[in-house]
Amino acid sequence: MIQTVAELIDRRTTGPAQELTLHTPELARALTPGQAVLVKTGWGLEPYLRRTFHPVAIDAETWTLRVPPGGDWGHAWLRAAPLGTAVDCLGPVGIGYLLPLGVRNVLCVGVGEWAWTLMPVVAQAAARGLSVALAMEARTPRELIPTLRLPAAVEYHAITADRRRTEGQWAELLTGAASGSRSGLLGWADAVVAAAPLAFSGQLAAGVKAVRYEISRGFAQVLYPASFLCGNGACQTCVADVAGGRRRVCMRGPVFDLVDLVT
Ligand code: FES
Repeated sequence: MIQTVAELIDRRTTGPAQELTLHTPELARALTPGQAVLVKTGWGLEPYLRRTFHPVAIDAETWTLRVPPGGDWGHAWLRAAPLGTAVDCLGPVGIGYLLPLGVRNVLCVGVGEWAWTLMPVVAQAAARGLSVALAMEARTPRELIPTLRLPAAVEYHAITADRRRTEGQWAELLTGAASGSRSGLLGWADAVVAAAPLAFSGQLAAGVKAVRYEISRGFAQVLYPASFLCGNGACQTCVADVAGGRRRVCMRGPVFDLVDLVT
C-alpha cells in the first residue's frame, strides 16, 4: 500500500455529485478497478479519519473519485478544495475485480452510486475488446451514468424506479427477455461484475440460479460495500460475515466471489 500526496487537478459536476481528478502516477499505476483508496479530507491532523473511495476512472497518471451528495463534512471539504490542493491518499486497499483470460461477454451490474465504481472495469473490458453490457439502477434518470461516459461499444440498460418496482425490471433484464436474449443478460454473460447495496447480492444470486442452476465460483464478482479506517487489517472495524466466517473486508475483499456472499 502506498501513502502519497496527490494534486487535485480537475473537478467537474456530474448530476448531483462532483468528480475530482487527482494526479498521482505511482498510485494510479498500482490501482485496479474495485480497489479502494483512503483519502484524508482535511488539512493538518484533522479530520483524523479518512474517507473511502473507489475510483470511477483510472488513467496512467491520475485517478478520479466521485463525491456523492450528502452532509458528510469530509465530503464537504473535498467539494470546497481548490484546484492544486495536495490530497493525502493511501491505497490501493484490498483486492479488485479480475477479468480472467478466456472471458468474452462481461456483464456489469450496478445500483445507485455504487454503479459508478464499475466505470474502470467497463473501460478495461472494452479496451480488451470484450463484449460489455452495463445494467444500472438509479432512483431518477438524472442519477444514471450518461451514455456519453461509456465506451461506444457498451450495451447499456438503465432502470429507474419511476414509481415502478425495480425488482421486476431487474428480473426481466437478468433472466427474462427484456435484454433481447431469451435467458436474459445472465444467460449471455461469461462473467459478471457487480457493485450494489448488500441486499442486491441475494437478488443477483437468485437470478444466477434461475438461469444457470447453480452459482459457480469465478462467475460473478461483487464489491462489498464498506468503509475502511486503516485499510491494512489492523483496526478490525471492517469485519463482516463473509466467505464462511468473520473476515476483514479490507484484506479479503472488497471484491468477493458471489459464492462467498450468499453461502
Ligand atoms: S479497515 Fe482496518 S481492518 Fe479493515
